[in-house]
Amino acid sequence: MRRKLLFGNWKMNKTREEAKAFAEEAKELDRFAKAHNIDIGVAPTFLSLCGVRKVNPDLCVAAQNCHFEDHGAFTGEISIPMLLDLGVTWCLIGHSERRTYFGETNEACNKKLKALFANNMTPIYCVGETLAEFEANKTKDVIKEQVLVGLEGLTKENVKKLVIAYEPVWSIGTGKNASTTIAEDICGYIRELVKGVFGEEASEEVRILYGGSVKPENVKAYLGEKDVDGALVGGASLKVESFRQLIENIL
Ligand code: 13P
Repeated sequence: MRRKLLFGNWKMNKTREEAKAFAEEAKELDRFAKAHNIDIGVAPTFLSLCGVRKVNPDLCVAAQNCHFEDHGAFTGEISIPMLLDLGVTWCLIGHSERRTYFGETNEACNKKLKALFANNMTPIYCVGETLAEFEANKTKDVIKEQVLVGLEGLTKENVKKLVIAYEPVWSIGTGKNASTTIAEDICGYIRELVKGVFGEEASEEVRILYGGSVKPENVKAYLGEKDVDGALVGGASLKVESFRQLIENIL
């Protein structure tokens, strides 16, 4: 049985103090979620990772990106050993904003996924099509490429621990959330792709999230779908009250 997972991606929001205040308030939320078999986590900016970890060590904390090399001449980058040094064991990879604004490719994502697993970390690998691709009926072609190239060379055991987030680019921050039918269709398709390469067992264990304008009002409908194991939430994860409503509304 896959545990439900609700993750907040804070993107480039919150000062260190704001992030710590959220983490403090979220202590009770975390206990409440765990009691209902839901894992919750947040992905703050690099600068707030340490503070959030210290204030609330029980909350899953993810970086929003990492470099695949351990160290070296990569100005502006953060490595996996540096994240581990802070006790951070989760990392988002391939978010559409990284793909769009920073040229991140499926091949680069693949290197990062391999490096994260080599360090026993848990990646949340983000995939999703643009509006133009959606309108041209290319969603499944794009997803297939992102999944097959991104996961190339991983082991079955890796994939069992992996989280994949399906986030259609046209639904991110737009209020135009994908229908639950689309979310289930694509999350189910991703599970089939995983099954084809890594076998049934891995496909039954990999957790697949939907992301894109998820709010307290629509979260339950997504999580009611067979292949949707949780949500990756941007805007609606920034306030503790809204995060609380997301959890309460899943129950
Ligand atoms: P919104 O929930 O603000 O649409 O953002 C989704 C997202 O990008 C999460 O990674």
